[in-house]
Amino acid sequence: MKTHTLLMPLDMHLHLRDGVMLEQVAPLSAYTFSGAIVMPNLVPPVSTVEDVKAYKQRIMAAVPNDYFEPYMTLFYKNYDKRFLESVKDHILAIKLYPAGITTNSEGGVSSFNIEEMRPTLEAMSELGIVLCVHGETDGFVMDREAEFMSIYEMLASNFPNLKIIMEHITTKAAVDMLERYPNLYATITVHHLLLTLDDVVGGMMMPHHFCKPIAKRPEDKEALLKVALDAHPKVMFGSDSAPHPISKKEACGCAAGVFTAPIALQLLCEIFDKYGKLENLQAFVSDNAQNIYGICPEFKEIVLEEREFEVPAIYGNVVPLYGGKKIKWAIQSVE
Ligand code: NCD
Ligand code: ZN
Repeated sequence: MKTHTLLMPLDMHLHLRDGVMLEQVAPLSAYTFSGAIVMPNLVPPVSTVEDVKAYKQRIMAAVPNDYFEPYMTLFYKNYDKRFLESVKDHILAIKLYPAGITTNSEGGVSSFNIEEMRPTLEAMSELGIVLCVHGETDGFVMDREAEFMSIYEMLASNFPNLKIIMEHITTKAAVDMLERYPNLYATITVHHLLLTLDDVVGGMMMPHHFCKPIAKRPEDKEALLKVALDAHPKVMFGSDSAPHPISKKEACGCAAGVFTAPIALQLLCEIFDKYGKLENLQAFVSDNAQNIYGICPEFKEIVLEEREFEVPAIYGNVVPLYGGKKIKWAIQSVE
């Protein structure tokens, strides 16, 4: 039987939510991942030192038996330097959302006025705090990410010492940006390596394929696959696993978010194997992130095997990507 071993997998963009949902989903990530960058878009968002510490404790309490490092983030506001100094040892990154662009982002940035943002971004550069960005405008849905490229250019050129992560990229335009600015990096989800807009609305409308940014064209997916399969050193895996209860997904007014955490590594093995690139998966799911963020996760070894596995139709009240469908790889052991 074909097997593949991964060491210290990292999920560099994860939504763990809070309360009952946190208790339900956190153990699923903690089972196979060594750590994850935890998104701050709670209601209200994570924006004080106390919020960060308390949320981290709730996450740790939800995963008592597994080793799992939640790398914490703050919700971007124009914070001052003194505050950033006080919080820097508790976070790895600050997440910037344009206001209202996705789930729980209402308190985000409403105008990208570089001079208003300068003190915060300069302080972050000096303190070595990474800036993670949800890069979408409020334009036409298929163009939102491409339209955001000029904002990435403005940020990258004005703050050359700030590490900027283009989160969950979905377009060739974003892939091309990686070569243009040394301080721009990207995360890629597993669902954007699998889906195009056709899988969302091309046939019947598929709520469990609906997320922000929306899956794009085949040529965009090809561009993402190329850099992921090559484990381009500026690209990392970030699932953007975003659980919503079934009542919010199979509804009039479907919430955006695809839940992939429990099957992400299995699907990645299937994709990388299909293209004969399994040897690059380690860099994509861990080594690149360790280099980019300068982190050193505790040891964890996951052995996956090529074996048909039926994805559970539902985890608690959350339907995963490909729920009830068969995928080609499964977890063999975790140590
Ligand atoms: C995310 C969520 O549900 O929090 N939704 C999504 O579609 N990806 C927010 C986000 O990352 O955009
Ligand atoms: Zn997200």
